[in-house]
Amino acid sequence: MDKPLALPIQKIITESERVKTYVFDYDFPGEPGQFVMCWIPGFDEKPFGIIKKEGKGFRISVAAVGDSTKAMHMMEEGDLLGFRGPYGSVFVLPEKGKQIAMVAGGYGMVPLSYLAQEARKKEYKVHLFIGARNKQELLFKEWMEEIGVLVHASTDDGSEGYKGFNTDLFKSNAEKESYDKVYTVGPEIMELKIAQICWEKNIPFEVSLERYMKCGFGICGQCSVDPTGWRMCVEGPVIDGEKLKKIEEFGKYHRTASGKVEKYPWVK
Ligand SMILES: Cc1cc2nc3c(=O)[nH]c(=O)nc-3n(C[C@H](O)[C@H](O)[C@H](O)COP(=O)(O)OP(=O)(O)OC[C@H]3O[C@@H](n4cnc5c(N)ncnc54)[C@H](O)[C@@H]3O)c2cc1C
Ligand code: FES
Repeated sequence: MDKPLALPIQKIITESERVKTYVFDYDFPGEPGQFVMCWIPGFDEKPFGIIKKEGKGFRISVAAVGDSTKAMHMMEEGDLLGFRGPYGSVFVLPEKGKQIAMVAGGYGMVPLSYLAQEARKKEYKVHLFIGARNKQELLFKEWMEEIGVLVHASTDDGSEGYKGFNTDLFKSNAEKESYDKVYTVGPEIMELKIAQICWEKNIPFEVSLERYMKCGFGICGQCSVDPTGWRMCVEGPVIDGEKLKKIEEFGKYHRTASGKVEKYPWVK
């Protein structure tokens, strides 16, 4: 869709202390992995992943982290939000094979929940490795169980499932299960660990690589990655594991809003 659109919030669902879901009664196009640019009146325009759930309409789930998202959390049903999109590349389910895995951290569950739903409709067996700080922050866990996803939860505090990182849980599970493809979305350190396991074991995978976005549709160059120059709002955010090998900055650094290179804290 080319034209920006203002839509009233039909319903707000509080998922946890930090995340709210906004439901819109509008058949917005978009596939798993894609995102919208959302204009928060009086604040800024920001990218968010799209979810579609049974029937008409679409939804976004937003973690309150800074000024714009905190302002969104103050909004009420009936208030207007602006939308452009959908933008970006999509997740691709394997043509052959029937068992896939998803590894999600934080709001990484947003695009993966939509993908899991599509995969279940096509009768794929889906293993989900979801990690969060605590039980309350395991986003969409019940919904995923309802649609028949095999959920392997992990929490930092051990309040539910495995106490520790979902990357460790995935690694030990990948020793006994065979996956036709793996999908991962979350903090870049988590994505890096999953990419290393998949490269080592020759498992095809896709990652959603987030970079700071301004225009969202390929004109400003803000979200380009080194050294390929691929724009994560056009050639990404979903990147195939083989293509990912060419993105040298993956797991090492990203660019801030000013375009300045910022190394990740784990890089010496
Ligand atoms: C493709 C994509 C999909 C996303 N999907 C979701 C989602 O489904 N749910 C969700 O809660 N968040 C999502 N985000 C992140 C979300 O866009 C940022 O958290 C939000 O922009 C923060 O804005 P703020 O003003 O509240 O915070 P700020 O204080 O402005 O920023 C907090 C942090 O958010 C990130 N951020 C801020 N602005 C941008 C931007 N324009 N582009 C990319 N990152 C930014 C930066 O890491 C920054 O340090 C997505 C980001 C991308 C790139
Ligand atoms: S955000 Fe402008 S090119 Fe990607």
